[in-house]
Amino acid sequence: MAMTVTPCRINVGLERNPYDVVIGNGVLGNVGEELLLGSVKPGSKVLVVSNSDIAELYGDLCLNSLKKQDFNVEMLTIGSGEQQKNLATVAQIHDAAFACKLERNSIMLALGGGVVGDITGFAAATWLRGIGIIQIPTTLLAMVDAAIGGKTGINHPGGKNLIGAFHQPKLVLIDPSTLNTLPLREFRAGMAEVIKYGMLGDFELFNGLESCQDPSSPQGLGQIQLESILQRSAAAKVRVVIADERESGLRAILNYGHTFGHAVETLCGYGTWLHGEAVAIGMAAVGELAVQLGSWSRCDADRQSRLIVKAGLPTVWPDLRPDDVIKTMQGDKKVRDEQLRLVMPTAIGTVNIRDNITREEILHCLERLST
Ligand code: GLY
Repeated sequence: MAMTVTPCRINVGLERNPYDVVIGNGVLGNVGEELLLGSVKPGSKVLVVSNSDIAELYGDLCLNSLKKQDFNVEMLTIGSGEQQKNLATVAQIHDAAFACKLERNSIMLALGGGVVGDITGFAAATWLRGIGIIQIPTTLLAMVDAAIGGKTGINHPGGKNLIGAFHQPKLVLIDPSTLNTLPLREFRAGMAEVIKYGMLGDFELFNGLESCQDPSSPQGLGQIQLESILQRSAAAKVRVVIADERESGLRAILNYGHTFGHAVETLCGYGTWLHGEAVAIGMAAVGELAVQLGSWSRCDADRQSRLIVKAGLPTVWPDLRPDDVIKTMQGDKKVRDEQLRLVMPTAIGTVNIRDNITREEILHCLERLST
């Protein structure tokens, strides 16, 4: 584990629940001090929730730092994978909370990827009507997206994340060195969300990735650029969350690439494509739609696709029945008043939300994507 240097702190300046996103190599080894800085009361009970792989890699480091600062620590290990995002796992966490007598000022700490973060966040939101949650994401996807912004939840047999609550964390700790143990495919899947932030408003982030020789791995990026993309992505997410905490407007732009991506993820079968890979395919697809509708240039669409491919991600639309695609897209939470609502690119670094995309326009686009 790398030595700690002064970490970068990004304040999520929400009126009711402000907190910091702290990014720096080695911050995981300082979690105890960071909790105190984040105004967690000394001696509080902390229930750390992780999965067995992450607990084996980073559990001791995290627990030792908490114990060193005299926190009263318990650890719970849950199973890995999206299939764990259910009520049974929430009950498992609540049972542990009951067994270790968590109180109103106790803390749950999620150490792991998006699954661990989403479930633990939801368990914290619902225990004693809401106790503090600390997010320590260990995947790129969770670092730049899921851990920031307070969306917590689990799946329902009818769809992903249908059960949930907004519950802002007290602190998000991002230690880039944990990415060295992340499987390369998962790292690349997280890069889809990073490219998304470039497309949504951070032109410099997009350009920086474009001029990087190999943005497809932590080693290819190097420590300085890796920290920089984490900081820029987290800052982009924070700006959106501050502007629209409860997704009544602007926050929907974070769904860029996700509506087509959702169809790919669902129809190819969960597990065929990782979420980020499906988003990459979805960004390429919505780019093609924007070109077809005359609201984006072919040149920019090609630039976006080239960067996605350079990051080691797919862009090719899979062989899917158009009717199924449209039905899945319409079943998506992002549909408003029966009209298809899509986040559309207008330039590199600029998107807008359109509510009036017709079935025919999508069908035509899918036809073009399949040839
Ligand atoms: N992952 C999208 C959001 O946080 O709103």
